[in-house]
Amino acid sequence: MRIRGISAPFDQVNYPLISLGFFEGETKLRGLSKALDGYINGLLAEIVGRKEFESDGDRISILHSRGKIRRILVIALGKKDEYTSDVLRSAAGRVTRRVRELEFTSFGFVLDQSNSLEDVQALVEGSELGLYTFDQYKSSARKPEVKEMGILLNDRTLKKSGQVIAKGQIIARSVAFTRDLSNLPSSDCTPSILSSHSMKLSKRGKVKVRVIEEEEMMTLGFGGVLAVARGSHEPPKFITLEYSGDKRGGSPIVLVGKAITFDSGGISIKPAEKMNEMKHDKSGGATVIGVIKAAAELKIPINLVGLVPATENLPGGGAYKPGDIVRFHNGKTAEILNTDAEGRLILADALAYAQRYKPQAIIDFATLTGACIIALGNVASGLMGNHPVMNQRILNAADRTGERVWELPLWKEYKDQIKSDIADIKNTSGRAGGTITAAAFLSNFVGEYPWAHLDIAGTAWTQDATPNRGYNQKGATGVGVRLMIDLLHNWKSLS
Ligand code: BES
Ligand code: MN
Ligand code: ZN
Repeated sequence: MRIRGISAPFDQVNYPLISLGFFEGETKLRGLSKALDGYINGLLAEIVGRKEFESDGDRISILHSRGKIRRILVIALGKKDEYTSDVLRSAAGRVTRRVRELEFTSFGFVLDQSNSLEDVQALVEGSELGLYTFDQYKSSARKPEVKEMGILLNDRTLKKSGQVIAKGQIIARSVAFTRDLSNLPSSDCTPSILSSHSMKLSKRGKVKVRVIEEEEMMTLGFGGVLAVARGSHEPPKFITLEYSGDKRGGSPIVLVGKAITFDSGGISIKPAEKMNEMKHDKSGGATVIGVIKAAAELKIPINLVGLVPATENLPGGGAYKPGDIVRFHNGKTAEILNTDAEGRLILADALAYAQRYKPQAIIDFATLTGACIIALGNVASGLMGNHPVMNQRILNAADRTGERVWELPLWKEYKDQIKSDIADIKNTSGRAGGTITAAAFLSNFVGEYPWAHLDIAGTAWTQDATPNRGYNQKGATGVGVRLMIDLLHNWKSLS
């Protein structure tokens, strides 16, 4: 979609549809809304403040008008004192979908005097993400695309809007890229295919992509990845991506993402119900690839490394089995009690490998535990780590982006819970504190480096098909990309 900022008077605005938001209890028209109202003969003045336009920030009312502007979409923004940019992002997602349903191909969106540049970016992201579809497998014709959005702004904001619009579009495209990878069926996104998709990032030369093959993994002692991969005919791939935005050569931030391209559970097989959703078990890897793509296009002045271990988890004849013992890249061993706790095994090798970069921080993303959905539902990602300052920064980024994150404790008791009688650690210790014991497992592989782990099991896709944000739809959300880009934009050295 083409997006531009404009400040023309309404008689020069050539959009057949204009959208604007109202807060609950708002009774006066001001600024651009007032100007718009003058142009449509007081239609808005008649309805502003009425109960029918109040709701929790998702109701859209459609007004009909004569003249060049034929429709006005009024969207309820909820209570003014509960407003954040994410309210606007969510509203924008619903608006653009409605515009498409109504078969308009261009429209204008009025921003208030009080709107900030952060709001402009949120509007751009929300409207682009609201239009996201995963329809490459649909054989029937699609609805006509919305081709243009004009953001109606005051002159002061307009001057600075160009850059922010471009930034929002890059971020939205990267989120869409991540969603596509997550939404792809496992048959069309094997570890090999995922590697080829990653290779696309290296085309413009800013990102170096290298794939570590099975043979090299043996030399490196990646016992976790290799064990999980043994039940499948598809060879595992260990994708490394490097983006160097810091010309002074500062130490990198390493992002690690779980990419189980299909998780059947292996020999400890999962129930059939909802097993199809396990094509999304590559979402953590998809997020890391999306973040690197966005960071490179935005030219963020920082060095980044992405590590994405990719394999299927299947119960083939060669499969690893409960009772097996696996040795990882850092020499530690784990007793396998459940082959469905496979994510932590492939992450263990990747986290251990991350240390060779002497990183200033390690951050991993993984759809790691069903327990995280029990704890936080589909509302927030779980955060665990060893560095309170970095954790707080991630929580701040979560507040700014609306990608909710909640911290869980990583106390010693949880680390004791996964000790094994015959190996260093075991890969499960029952249901109690399942999200935290998984993180405790990972903590064995990060050494002394600042590290944060985000369990995105509940947030990577909309499991109940009722997304709680207007810019998400059924399927993958691309969670983590906006969060990380915000964090990296505001990055300061941790020491
Ligand atoms: N990928 C799953 C976690 C998951 C389940 C994410 C459902 C999203 C929705 C992970 O590999 C897994 O199977 N974890 C097990 C661990 C258990 C065996 C200790 C789980 O959560 O049941
Ligand atoms: Mn599993
Ligand atoms: Zn899994």
